[in-house]
Amino acid sequence: MIEIKTPAEIESMRRASRVVAEVLQQLKSRVKPGVTTAELDKFAEQRVRELGAVPAFLGYRGYPATLCVSINEEIVHGIPSPKRVIREGDIVSLDMGAVIDGFYGDAAVTVAAGEISAPAKKLMDVTRSSLEAALSQVRAGARLGDVSHAVEEYAGVHGMGVVREFTGHGIGRKLHEEPSIPNFGRAGTGPTLKAGMTLAIEPMLCLGKADVIVKNDGWTAVSADGSLAAHFEHTVAVTEDGCDILSAP
Ligand code: MF3
Ligand code: CO
Repeated sequence: MIEIKTPAEIESMRRASRVVAEVLQQLKSRVKPGVTTAELDKFAEQRVRELGAVPAFLGYRGYPATLCVSINEEIVHGIPSPKRVIREGDIVSLDMGAVIDGFYGDAAVTVAAGEISAPAKKLMDVTRSSLEAALSQVRAGARLGDVSHAVEEYAGVHGMGVVREFTGHGIGRKLHEEPSIPNFGRAGTGPTLKAGMTLAIEPMLCLGKADVIVKNDGWTAVSADGSLAAHFEHTVAVTEDGCDILSAP
C-alpha cells in the first residue's frame, strides 16, 4: 500500500528534506582535492544535528555514517573514510537523509572536484536532467511507470547506462516505503499516483555498462566495468497538478 500523507505530515517531511538540501549545499563547496570523505561526513553529521534533525542513514541496517560519498566508478553507498582523499578530476556523489519529528527526507547530488573530463561532465548533466525528466512526469493521475520510463528514455537517448539493482522509493515515516521506483519501465503501467504520496526519486547512471558489483565492505556499489557513475535524488510530494520538491535547495 502506498501511504497518502496529510498536509501537516508533508510539512514535517519538508523540514527534514530542507535540512538535507541545506547540508548538501554546504558540502558542495567543501568537495575539493585534498579533502577526505570522513571530513565531509563529520561536517554533515554536525550540521544535521545543529539544524535540529537526526541523520537517517547512521545505523540504518548497520550503515556506519551520516553521508554516503561515492567517487567515480562508485555508484552509491560509499562509506566515508579518513583514508579516502578526494583528487582533482573526481566526480563525487553525496547522498544524505535526515529525520525530524519522525519524518524522513532524502536527497543526493553529484559534484565535480576541480576540473573534470568532458565525458564526466556529460554524465553529471544527463543524470541531473534525467531526474528532472522524471519529476516532470509526477502528478496525480500519472502512472509510476511514466516516471520510471522518463529516466530510462532520457538516459538511453544520451547514451548512458541505467543502474537497475537500486531504485528510488516511497518515503515518509520510514526511509524506505512502498513503492519501489525503478529507473526503467513502461509508460502507462504501474500504480496510479495520488496527491499526498511522497517519493524519493533517484536515477543512478553510468558512462558505460550499468552492471553493479558490491565491494567487500558490504556497502560500496561500483560499476562492474569501472565506468564513471552519477546519482541525483529528490524527495517530492505528488500534487494534483505536478510535484512539490520537498528537498529543493
Ligand atoms: N538514498 C539511498 C537510499 O535511499 C541511501 C541509503 S544509504 C543507507 O537507499 F545507508 F541508509 F542504506
Ligand atoms: Co533514497
